[in-house]
Amino acid sequence: IVLSRKLCYENEKRGFMRDTAPMPIYLKDYQKHAFEITDIALEFELHPTETQVTAVSKVSRNRKGEDFTLDGHSMILKAVYVDDQQLSESNYILTDQDLTLPSARLPEGDFTLKIVTQIDPSNNTSLEGLYRSGTMYCTQCESQGFRKITYFIDRPDNMARYRVKLIGEDDKMPVLLSNGHKIEEGQDKNGRPYAVWEDPHKKPSYLFALVAGDLAVHKDKFTTQSGRDVALEIYVEHGNEDRCDYAMDSLKRSMRWDEEKYGREYDLDIFMIVAVSDFNFGAMENKGLNIFNAKYILAKSETATDTDYENIEAIIAHEYFHNWTGNRITCRDWFQLCLKEGLTVFRDQSFTGDMRSSITKRIDDVIMLRNAQFPEDAGPLAHPVRPESYIEINNFYTATVYEKGAELCRMLAVMLGQEGFRKGTDLFFERFDGMAVTVEDFVQSMADASGKDLSQFLLWYKQAGTPHVTAHGVYHADQGRYHLTLSQKTHPTQGQDSKVAMHIPVLVALISPSGEPITSEYAGKSAHEHMIELKEDKAEFIFENVSEAPLVSLFRDFSAPIILHQDISTEECFLLMQHETNPFNAYEIAQNIAEGIILSLYDEQTRSDIENDVTAYCAAIYKILQNETYDPLYKSYMIGLPSLGYLMQKVKNVQPQKLYDARTALRDAIAAYDPDALIEAYQKTRSDKAFDPAPSEATRRALGNKLLSYIVLADAKFSARAEAHYRESDNMTDMMGALSALSDRGGEIYNKLMQEFFVTYEKDQLVIDKWFALQARSQASDVLDQVKSLLNHKDFTYKNPNRVRSLIGVFAHGNLVHFHKPDAYAFIAEQILILDKLNPKTAARMATAFDQIHLLDPALSHAARGVLEHLLEKKSEISNDLYEIIFKTLGGSAKIAA
Ligand code: ARG
Ligand code: ZN
Repeated sequence: IVLSRKLCYENEKRGFMRDTAPMPIYLKDYQKHAFEITDIALEFELHPTETQVTAVSKVSRNRKGEDFTLDGHSMILKAVYVDDQQLSESNYILTDQDLTLPSARLPEGDFTLKIVTQIDPSNNTSLEGLYRSGTMYCTQCESQGFRKITYFIDRPDNMARYRVKLIGEDDKMPVLLSNGHKIEEGQDKNGRPYAVWEDPHKKPSYLFALVAGDLAVHKDKFTTQSGRDVALEIYVEHGNEDRCDYAMDSLKRSMRWDEEKYGREYDLDIFMIVAVSDFNFGAMENKGLNIFNAKYILAKSETATDTDYENIEAIIAHEYFHNWTGNRITCRDWFQLCLKEGLTVFRDQSFTGDMRSSITKRIDDVIMLRNAQFPEDAGPLAHPVRPESYIEINNFYTATVYEKGAELCRMLAVMLGQEGFRKGTDLFFERFDGMAVTVEDFVQSMADASGKDLSQFLLWYKQAGTPHVTAHGVYHADQGRYHLTLSQKTHPTQGQDSKVAMHIPVLVALISPSGEPITSEYAGKSAHEHMIELKEDKAEFIFENVSEAPLVSLFRDFSAPIILHQDISTEECFLLMQHETNPFNAYEIAQNIAEGIILSLYDEQTRSDIENDVTAYCAAIYKILQNETYDPLYKSYMIGLPSLGYLMQKVKNVQPQKLYDARTALRDAIAAYDPDALIEAYQKTRSDKAFDPAPSEATRRALGNKLLSYIVLADAKFSARAEAHYRESDNMTDMMGALSALSDRGGEIYNKLMQEFFVTYEKDQLVIDKWFALQARSQASDVLDQVKSLLNHKDFTYKNPNRVRSLIGVFAHGNLVHFHKPDAYAFIAEQILILDKLNPKTAARMATAFDQIHLLDPALSHAARGVLEHLLEKKSEISNDLYEIIFKTLGGSAKIAA
């Protein structure tokens, strides 16, 4: 991957000075690098502002006669040596993006390259490369942060062996970590501590990591299936030692699960995790040394919610699973990002399903997909799971690459069956271990292991947009046959005007109107549930032995990431909701009914005709609430409503406030339907047992808090119940439950509790994030002013990404009613500009909040576009990251940019 030379930054710290628009790079241009670095010995002399890095690399040639270009920026080049001969400045070409050694200056064969650079970790606010979080030193190299440490072939297809010597600042830096095994440690002649690490596994530069500082450690061990002992170590800031248990336990369960489910054993003698307070993302799978946002490690009952616990478990698993899917087998280039992310998300989702409940986990994942990925796929930032071009790869760590990418793996598992899928991954590991490969390599392994033709399936990786599938069924009583016609259509997305038919697995079952599961015959197989495959624009599927006109249950467990259009009456919906044999689909129908009601309430013309539906809907969900056989978490999903962001997709020229009001009207109707029943159900969720993060307890609390939110709506007098809920609680889940239940209504009790909450947790930054987020999410009419004034709060800082996300991010992405207003657009744009100067990755992410403006009432979308155009006029001052998001949001495609 050759970076465009047209980008001419002066210096990252002084802002970006560019005279032309940045150029995209293309998948089709992929070429191996002319050189390869096979081994690298790094030495770091850590210093707050002048860290010196000496890199000695073994280099070999892939092609003869070419110049050697190494990626690198934002550092001072001190010296370059080829085979111990120092090159003078006239012997190399240094730009603000790379370093080129002319072919003529290089030996014909292999050679040694030594490069000395100096970097400034303390002033690295981008949190990419080597930076500081508090007093500790840490790194984040994915995707292209290593090039801020030394000049290197900073692309994933260059896999090298690493040896790393860390020299600490002084004796106050006892912990010095890097990838692999520690082979030496001691004190140098100046009394500075040092440690030497060696990683026996070849790896791409994005998996390099180092950590140094004065940290506490929580230790344990794991015995692998073959009987090897692995030391497990979690490093945290002093004072957090008592918050590592859950993370450690999750790690051990992940290691066991990967052995049992995928036959994957860990491959080093030590596995380390470090929790860092200032981190751009969730976590990072560096070989043997995972670095985590502290939010996804630290937990104790008083500070972490059940959701935090679940996230910790899932993200620990995710990063651990990367050891095989990502690290042992990595991506050839960054276009293949979904190869490691989609597969690893699929694996962590299955893990959580096994640890907790596979039904509610599936519901959770589908909610996420619909709330984050479908809108992306239908908007100006739509891109294929494997993009074909990008300006900044960091902008492609998206719901499409991760979550839709996971759905593609899941579809393969649905089609091949669990065993077939396992054969496919076995073959993939066998063929490609130690290599940097492509999506085709993965899919081909699946095809070869199963004998199934997956050539059309590959389209899922290439074609953006969510397919719309329309279903139409006809029953032929005389023949006992049910004919199901399915047709598919994917709308154009930017750069892809016409789409072709995809290969879609559909899980189908027929149910009799009286509620009996029907066993029908399809393709010679007699079963209740069938897997059929839609490959054409339109196809007919015939089910035999059907003795009465059936209800049809489609895309069971959400067997494909599509939008279903089914001609089904409201009566049939209620009937199906009652008789579904698949609990996930029962949930889907409840959501569809709720959606229909909300959209009718939104529209003046239909508003008055739906009272019966509202009553029937309330009756149906109350029935589920009172059925003791259901999992409480499942119940809480069943009584929940589709999100505003999801509903916005369903209306033309949407007015968010009006849609919110329609949604609120149904929510209030649910609350008012039978408050006594709600209170009774709520009482059943109460328990005086001490907090336990176990799933069975978490699910009980989830329902309790959901019910509390309805109860508080039913009558203002129930605010006192919420206050008691808060005061009786011994855990953060219930405290947050009480506060969020009260937050919509606001008022005295809410204000009092929020103040107390702040005083209690003032010292605890992860909890204070929650306090900021609650306020950013508020529906109070003056929330924008509140958010503005919180910028001046003593605990607000632009330098901590968690804090920025909890205030500005939650407002822009999570408070859609109040974000979609002209004043708020201007405010967020101004915040994005401030952030961009410090941390372009976080700024660009914030800017994606604007990608839904195409849905809005023209007056609003016009205002938003004006704000964005104004930002784009500052072209020479904004980062590539931000430029790409704004440019595309305004309708420019990568092609136009070129
Ligand atoms: N690979 C990491 C993960 O999925 C995320 C790294 C994010 N990096 C980035 N440049 N966006 O766990
Ligand atoms: Zn990942």
